[in-house]
Amino acid sequence: MKNKAQVLNILLAIIIAVLVYQITELETETETKSTLIVSNDTISTSTLASTSEKKSVGVRGHIMPKPALVIGSYGKDGMPNMMAAAWAGICNSNPLSIAVSIRRSRLSFENIMHHKCFTVNVPSVKHVAVVDYVGMISGHDENKFEKLDLTPTKGEFIDAPYIEEFPIVIECEVTDSFDLGSHVQFIGKVIDTKVNQNLIKSNGYVDIEKLQPLIFEEEFYYSFGIAVAQPWDAHKLFIDSLKPKFMPKNYENATIANIHERKSVRHFTTKSVSKEQLETLVKAGMAAPTAMNKQPWAFIASTDRKLLDQLAEELPHAKMLFEATSAITVCGDLTKTMEGKSSEYWIQDCSAATQNILLAVESMGLGAVWTGVYPNEERIQMVKKLLNLPDHIVPLCVIPIGYSTGEDKPKDKWKEENLKWEKWGN
Ligand SMILES: Cc1cc2nc3c(=O)[nH]c(=O)nc-3n(C[C@H](O)[C@H](O)[C@H](O)COP(=O)(O)O)c2cc1C
Repeated sequence: MKNKAQVLNILLAIIIAVLVYQITELETETETKSTLIVSNDTISTSTLASTSEKKSVGVRGHIMPKPALVIGSYGKDGMPNMMAAAWAGICNSNPLSIAVSIRRSRLSFENIMHHKCFTVNVPSVKHVAVVDYVGMISGHDENKFEKLDLTPTKGEFIDAPYIEEFPIVIECEVTDSFDLGSHVQFIGKVIDTKVNQNLIKSNGYVDIEKLQPLIFEEEFYYSFGIAVAQPWDAHKLFIDSLKPKFMPKNYENATIANIHERKSVRHFTTKSVSKEQLETLVKAGMAAPTAMNKQPWAFIASTDRKLLDQLAEELPHAKMLFEATSAITVCGDLTKTMEGKSSEYWIQDCSAATQNILLAVESMGLGAVWTGVYPNEERIQMVKKLLNLPDHIVPLCVIPIGYSTGEDKPKDKWKEENLKWEKWGN
């Protein structure tokens, strides 16, 4: 009996600790200005010392990542054309030049030979099917711009079209070409580069997390976006007298990386989140562990602008709902809980579901923030009223979800003193 009471006391303490943590997190979290995440999950020189036996795989171009670019050109007849190119990259600093290798059989080859210029169009991951299409179908057979309903805008400085819908476009003038065998390598001097304004950060760099550039690998296309260290800084790891400003991070484990990348996002673009995305998120929530597998929860996914605004009006710590394009409200279902005092496990169960959703949000390139409702009675009643919740459904939190503007960054919360080994003290 005494043991049971002790266990219950401990559980109660855990619940209170979780709630206090949430409330302080929600109410006192301030924006960090750092542009890079500094976590303890860093590379150490000892990590780098590990090695494994190598096997020759023959002559293979295993350089990663390879870009997935689209080259724009006009035909002799003025027809705009585009082709995918992965055998390409920056090849000189002054003048800034891009090399792209093209087979003679391509229509683009003829076009570039004729006009002596081309554009390099940098896609986002959302353009993956476009890139693949223009890499499979030749302009010899159809007008790909017309087929894909893309806009060929004439270059400002050269006689080649760029793809209006792509986020970054570069105009190049051919300065040289080299017959390398299967391909002819064209060297294009960069004449001008245009970037969608919303991707330019205040320091002038491109916001790569927002851009989500596409990477070509032989087996798959990939996206990237996790910053692991800063150029011209990371090498200091090996110089005794110096220390990198941003410790290089060890991203061998994608799950750990995602956990450290998770951040409270409070600023959103107007881009909406689809029903499929919301369903994926709720599925992630429902994958959380629950006491005795009771799954004592209900999830309300909302996308209605008026409703989101009403919630924002009424909830003092959920003003981000004015910007967010959707929300998931995580609720406890009191008809599904355990009996007696153990019924309070629903709070932990729903908290675990909430964290699952937040991590899934991060992994899907979305942004979200946990805004607390339970145990604040006023907020509970307000959410119940606005969402039409029956008596037995208690809202734990509302999670505003949308596409981040990129302003919000993760924090390094590692504090060595908060970890005790074996016991508290000797
Ligand atoms: C991801 C990807 C990358 C490619 N990279 C190149 C390349 O670097 N050079 C090349 O000659 N062809 C490359 N191709 C193939 C051409 O894009 C493809 O043959 C295209 O249809 C040529 O179009 P065009 O005849 O209209 O110029 C690539 C295709 C894909 C899907």
